[in-house]
Amino acid sequence: MQKHWKTRLIHSDARIPEGFRSLNTAVHRASTTLFPDAAAGTDQWDVHEVGYSYGLYGTPTVLELAARMCELEGGHRTLITPGGQSAISLIQLAFLKAGDHVLIPESVYGPSRSFSNRVLRKFGVEVTYYDPLIGGGIESLIQPNTKLIWCESPGSITMEVQDVPAIAAAAHAHNALVVLDNTWAAGVLFDAFAHGVDVTMQALTKYVGGHSDLLLGSITVNDPKLWQQLGATHQVVGCAASPDDCSLALRGLKTMAVRLQAIESSAMQIAEWLRNRPEVERVLHPALGSCPGHEFWKRDFSGSSGVFSIVFRPEYTKAQVQGFVNALELFKIGYSWGGVTSLAVAYDFAGWASRPAYGHRIVRLNIGLEDTGDLIADLEIGLAAMVQARA
Ligand SMILES: Cc1ncc(COP(=O)(O)O)c(C=O)c1O
Repeated sequence: MQKHWKTRLIHSDARIPEGFRSLNTAVHRASTTLFPDAAAGTDQWDVHEVGYSYGLYGTPTVLELAARMCELEGGHRTLITPGGQSAISLIQLAFLKAGDHVLIPESVYGPSRSFSNRVLRKFGVEVTYYDPLIGGGIESLIQPNTKLIWCESPGSITMEVQDVPAIAAAAHAHNALVVLDNTWAAGVLFDAFAHGVDVTMQALTKYVGGHSDLLLGSITVNDPKLWQQLGATHQVVGCAASPDDCSLALRGLKTMAVRLQAIESSAMQIAEWLRNRPEVERVLHPALGSCPGHEFWKRDFSGSSGVFSIVFRPEYTKAQVQGFVNALELFKIGYSWGGVTSLAVAYDFAGWASRPAYGHRIVRLNIGLEDTGDLIADLEIGLAAMVQARA
């Protein structure tokens, strides 16, 4: 057919050489996926079974990231979501229904708690929060309708390391699923499936992305039946991940080992230094004996990452603790961790009867890739400012 130039803008006959090869996964952006003939059209979601059918279920860039994450975590299949929080909510929506009961650790990531309170409860799911250090004692909280036990190890901010194998043993004795938020361990420093977990998720936003410039999540299951439940829910919830972000995450994966190694070493040095400071009551770093559940870190993890918390001595006021954070120059104030920039955030647990009595004295640090000596010098300035503010 002789084509008008307007048509050629859309249907071009231009050709380029074939056979291009490079080290990088191409970025395939697509909502529309083409079918070879009318009969082949389908809207089924399982690309592994039916082939590509709709952008929502993933382009090759998204599926490449999913396959890489699945390989790293040793699961059956992985689903990529637009962020860690959407991974959390999708898991809950896929595996819970009205009348079910879910157990969630008190130390869970805040927005995950809000999802349970605001959405799960609204739809008739019973939610109980448990002491993250309960271990096998969780059995006493399991009810006939308990379908899912959430774990996050170490917990957000307060850093309790959980006895995941003991929780999994109790859960499986009562046919409940065990889900783990494995973000702190970047999916690699704790082998979730080897420790009895059924479903893992992580915010790829953190160490996989690694540069504070994307939001992504992953959900990995170890059982084809769970994959069917998850995929069918993902299809109708409709949260698709961006291929551009997935491409950045694929790039992040290539350097994650060296970043994690450098971050682990720097964080350890800084945690040890803080432990010896007179202003600090307690360092909540999983690799130190002062962290609740340290023995489980020692038993189950192959390393540590760069997020930990410090608790100041009781004499420091909230204004002083905030003054410490404000006086830091290299440590920026921001929530999303796992990038190359060090961060500090002050939290206040005052009035939370179910949380440890750290009150306003807790600060979470994210250690980035700056020089360790410079970071320590920065913390020293912050501590001096905090102490002086008392005078
Ligand atoms: C432990 C943990 N899980 C999940 C999330 C949520 O990830 P995202 O920011 O990608 O939604 C975060 C974010 O801070 C987190 O710290």
